[in-house]
Amino acid sequence: GKGEYDHFMLKEIHEQPTALAQAIEGRIDPTNGRIALEDFPPGTFDGVENVQLIACGTSYHAALYGSLALNQAGIRATALLANEYSVTAPPVDDDTLVIAVSQSGETADTLSALRQATAAGADTLTVTNVVGSTAAREADETLFIRAGPEIGVAATKTFSSQAVMLTLLAQRIAADSRGEPPADLQSLLPDLAQMPSQLEDLLATDDAAHIARQYQGSQSYFFIGRGLGYPVALEGALKFKEITYEHAEGFASGELKHGPLALVTPDTPVFAVFTGEEDEKTLKNAEEAQTRGAPVIAVCPEGHRAVEVADEHLEIPDTDDELAGLLANVQLQLVSYHAAELLDRPIDKPRNLAKSVTVE
Ligand code: M6R
Repeated sequence: GKGEYDHFMLKEIHEQPTALAQAIEGRIDPTNGRIALEDFPPGTFDGVENVQLIACGTSYHAALYGSLALNQAGIRATALLANEYSVTAPPVDDDTLVIAVSQSGETADTLSALRQATAAGADTLTVTNVVGSTAAREADETLFIRAGPEIGVAATKTFSSQAVMLTLLAQRIAADSRGEPPADLQSLLPDLAQMPSQLEDLLATDDAAHIARQYQGSQSYFFIGRGLGYPVALEGALKFKEITYEHAEGFASGELKHGPLALVTPDTPVFAVFTGEEDEKTLKNAEEAQTRGAPVIAVCPEGHRAVEVADEHLEIPDTDDELAGLLANVQLQLVSYHAAELLDRPIDKPRNLAKSVTVE
C-alpha cells in the first residue's frame, strides 16, 4: 500500500535512496573500485564501438542520459525513440550494441525496435525493472535496475535507477573496449556511494512545495539544461505535463534563443538545471529569459553563482557532474507532484495514460 503517503508517486519518490542503494549494491568491486555488473564477466563488452539506446517517454530520457555518459566515456552512442526506430534506425554492424531501456519491459514500441535490431544482427541488452518481462526474455543480456515495484503511472524511481545503471554501464563498456576504466571513474564512485544519503537530505526539505505554490496558475512552465542537464529538463517537463495537465516544455539551454524565447513572459517560470557543464552559459541563457520578465528557478548546489542571479532556487547536494542532474531531477519530481496536488489531479492515474503502453 501507500503507507504514510497520499499517493504512490510520492512514496516512490521517497523510495529513491533505497532503490539506488539496491541498484548499486554488489555492483562495484570494493577491492579495486571496478564496476562488477554480476552478469557480465570482464571483457563482455570487448569490441563494442557503437551503442544505440532505444526507449520511449521517461525511459527515453534515461537512455539519452546514458548515451551522453557513453559519449563522455569515449564511446559512440545515440539515444533513439523506439517508436521512430522502424523508419529511422541507423545501420547496425558487428560492433554495435543495442540497449533497450524499459521499466516494464513490455512497451510495444520498444519491443518492436528490439526485435528489429535483433533481426538486423545487433547484440542486444535490456535495462529493465521487471524480471521475466518480454524485453528481458528476448534480449541477449539483461541488466536489472532492482528499483522495486512502481505503481504510479508517472515513472520516478525507475528513471533515477535506469540513469545510474546506464552511467555505470557506460564506464564498464568503455573499460572493456579500451582495457582500462576511464579516468573519471575514481571521482564518480565515491559520489555514487553517498548519493542515497544525499537524496535523504534533499527529500527532507520542502522547498519544492513552496515553489509549486508560488508559481501555481502560470501559463506555461519551461525547463532548461545543458549536457546531462538536458535530458533532465526534458524529463522535468514531461513529468509536469503528465500529472498537472499544465503546459510544460523542456529545452536545451542554448536552444531557448533559437525560437522558444518568443514564448517567454512574466507568466512562464523557467527552471534552470545546473550540472557543472558550462554552467556560465546556462546562466546566461536563463538571464535572457529573466530579462523578458520570466521568473528563474535555479536548481543547483548552495553557493552556486546561479543562486544570486535567479529569483528562487532549489538546492541540490554537491556531487560529481555525472550525478548532479539526477539530484536535480528529484527536486523537479517534487515540484510536479506538489503542483498536481494543488490542482487536485488524480496523480497516480493521470487521464488518458496507462502504466504500460502495449500498443504501437
Ligand atoms: O515501461 P517503459 O519504461 O518502457 O515505459 C515507457 C514510457 O511509456 C514511460 O516511461 C512513460 O513515459 C512514463 N509513464 C512517464 O512518466
